[in-house]
Amino acid sequence: MGKLSGKSAIVTGGASGMGRGVALCFAEEGANVAILDRNEAGAKEVAAEAAASGVKTVGLACDVGDEASVKSTFAASAEALGDTDILVANAGIDTTELIENMSTEMWEEMIRINLNSIFYCSREVIPAMKSKRWGRIINFSSQLAHKGAPLMAHYCASKAGVMGFTRSLAYELVEHGITVNCINPGPIDTPLYMGIPEDWRREKEASMPIKRPGRIEEVVPTVLLLASEEGSFYVGASMNMNGGDVMV
Ligand SMILES: NC(=O)c1ccc[n+]([C@@H]2O[C@H](COP(=O)([O-])OP(=O)(O)OC[C@H]3O[C@@H](n4cnc5c(N)ncnc54)[C@H](O)[C@@H]3O)[C@@H](O)[C@H]2O)c1
Repeated sequence: MGKLSGKSAIVTGGASGMGRGVALCFAEEGANVAILDRNEAGAKEVAAEAAASGVKTVGLACDVGDEASVKSTFAASAEALGDTDILVANAGIDTTELIENMSTEMWEEMIRINLNSIFYCSREVIPAMKSKRWGRIINFSSQLAHKGAPLMAHYCASKAGVMGFTRSLAYELVEHGITVNCINPGPIDTPLYMGIPEDWRREKEASMPIKRPGRIEEVVPTVLLLASEEGSFYVGASMNMNGGDVMV
């Protein structure tokens, strides 16, 4: 018996990086897993890899910043795997620009994908979780929500929004047996992080007490904890694995 046996999970952004790590871990722990990503080929690849653990999986093309896309893929996931018990809202993007040079389009794209998505995805899973009186919602924020960063005001604003949303939803749902928490990683070695300009990354790592980015396997166990029965006392928490970048 795995820690998530009998549960169905959705992992958004599961085609790459931390989402992929979470999807594979959940499958190993016995959950049926839907991998939703705008990279459809990647989602299907990870679904095939996760199926090797002997659980049901599905990989679906989804744009989490698009309400209609979320509604249809969440329904397809429930159809394939049963009602969603665990939502990991991990999909996100990262760009850099000075605010004075930032286009409105760049700002809105960041808020659409990193923040609106959290609302769209949570809203879809709440009714079934309430009727089962059990559920786990785990949202990906960032340690930059606490700290801020030059060139990333739009990203930091979106992730601070995720944290505020998480805490508020945690109040709304705890009496229904549903916990809502967020993951606030520091720099983690994933394709997203490697896409940030190298001089920015070097400066960042030099300023960190641990002097290096984190690894995916240093984040995934915390997501598993929050998703499992053992995570039942975490309510509205911000889990800060960040190599000492922000000590809160
Ligand atoms: N890597 C870091 O240093 C770091 C630090 C703090 C927070 N985070 C957050 O962690 C999460 C995962 O990041 P990662 O580093 O694993 O990134 P990643 O780029 O490796 O993976 C992100 C995945 O999200 C998908 N995605 C992006 N936009 C999407 C959309 N609109 N709809 C559906 N899927 C979409 C991508 O296709 C990709 O597969 C993100 O929310 C990110 O902001 C990352």
